[in-house]
Amino acid sequence: MQILDGKITAEKIRHEIADEVQKMVSAGLRRPHLAAILVGHDGGSLTYVNNKVKACHDCGFESTLLHFGTGITETELIDEVKKLNDNPEIDGFIVQLPLPHHISERRVIEAIDYRKDVDGFHPVNTGRLNAGLPCFVSATPRGILELLRRYDVRTRSKRVVILGRSNIVGKPLASMLMQRSYGDATVTVCHSHTLNIADECRRADILIAAIGQPEFVTADMVREGATVIDVGTTRIPDASCARGYRLAGDVKFDEVAPKCAYITPVPGGVGPMTIAMLMQNTLAAARKEYYH
Ligand code: GUN
Repeated sequence: MQILDGKITAEKIRHEIADEVQKMVSAGLRRPHLAAILVGHDGGSLTYVNNKVKACHDCGFESTLLHFGTGITETELIDEVKKLNDNPEIDGFIVQLPLPHHISERRVIEAIDYRKDVDGFHPVNTGRLNAGLPCFVSATPRGILELLRRYDVRTRSKRVVILGRSNIVGKPLASMLMQRSYGDATVTVCHSHTLNIADECRRADILIAAIGQPEFVTADMVREGATVIDVGTTRIPDASCARGYRLAGDVKFDEVAPKCAYITPVPGGVGPMTIAMLMQNTLAAARKEYYH
């Protein structure tokens, strides 16, 4: 069994990006600039956004954090999005999800200029992804494929089973994995109405769990020699941890790991790769790789 180490791989990628930024600066170009909008005080979202800002610093990017209270209205938030759309200093930006219930995530995402949508959530980008056209791709699916690629875990002709059909992970991941040259895999997507999920999982060469249900995947659901990717990061209150909580993945790691060829840990697996891919998307935005 080998650990797919997202922490070390992401660090390597941040160094690669920092080298590229150095070349840009030497050539007289300005540094890539990422902005993030955060609404409210959810602990998980605060940590994610702070980690994104820190990654910008590591990569030599400029960053701007816009933090609003939960009292902000949808109209006010969309005005902030429009200001970032129109700001030529900003190459790309994200609106951290989830948003408070009184704000429509769909309307906010649709207000983002798709040319600055480094999260790849805008319908232009998701549509182009499904059509196999160049576009910004959601960072978590990209991070998973990049981690597999860097450990030389091949997806071509493999049976991949994805647990979860979210817009952020399950759907774009399925789209990428089934596409020619991206993945070339045979993909099954399981969700809350799938019958006999355990049977589906046991057929997987590569099993990807993205449902946010701590320790859902148990050893009996995993084929001997499979590769298991754990996207779950649920905070479980735990007084014995200094922070007052621990992070739990969707996979019961201790019993599943011995059966696997490869497995990602939580934390230190997919999470750091997601942030590294957001940095790559921001570099691509600054270089206008997909759109002018
Ligand atoms: N919430 C959970 N994951 C993500 C992500 O990748 N981007 C944004 N903007 N919000 C998230």
